[in-house]
Amino acid sequence: MEKTFVMIKPDGVKRKLIGEILGRIERKGLAVEKIMMTSPNLATLEEHYREHSEKGFYKDLIHFMTSGKVVALQVEGKDSIAIMRNLIGETDPTCASPGTIRGDLANSKTENLVHASDSEEAALRELQLWFGEE
Ligand code: PPS
Repeated sequence: MEKTFVMIKPDGVKRKLIGEILGRIERKGLAVEKIMMTSPNLATLEEHYREHSEKGFYKDLIHFMTSGKVVALQVEGKDSIAIMRNLIGETDPTCASPGTIRGDLANSKTENLVHASDSEEAALRELQLWFGEE
């Protein structure tokens, strides 16, 4: 079974879409093995998004991510990393396909509801960062 890290971002919590997003993950056949609602601290977010620290949108991204609670998830299942990336859809909601979480429910490149690890290495790193174990 492959493990991946998924996060429902502050807009997903504020818009009361936690159940909708968890439902889509579960209906796809993946298992939510760990779940934690938290107000993330700055150090955790800076480490999480370290690869984007030089990008023009970095400040906006960190500001948005500290604007409310998030739900951190450990999701497991066969090919869970690739399946979750397909389930969430493209970063930019104008490009995200209908049927994906962002394609159906998001309208902004910043407030795009959900994050999912993009590789095995990222999944291990992010699970360690948020849950303290792989
Ligand atoms: S890149 O440049 O292709 O590596 O970036 P991308 O993978 O598309 O996005 C990385 C994360 O940054 C968020 N993002 C933004 N935030 C704020 N403003 C703008 N313009 C913006 N563009 C991208 C995007 O939602 C990604 O967050 P995660 O949590 O990884 O999905």
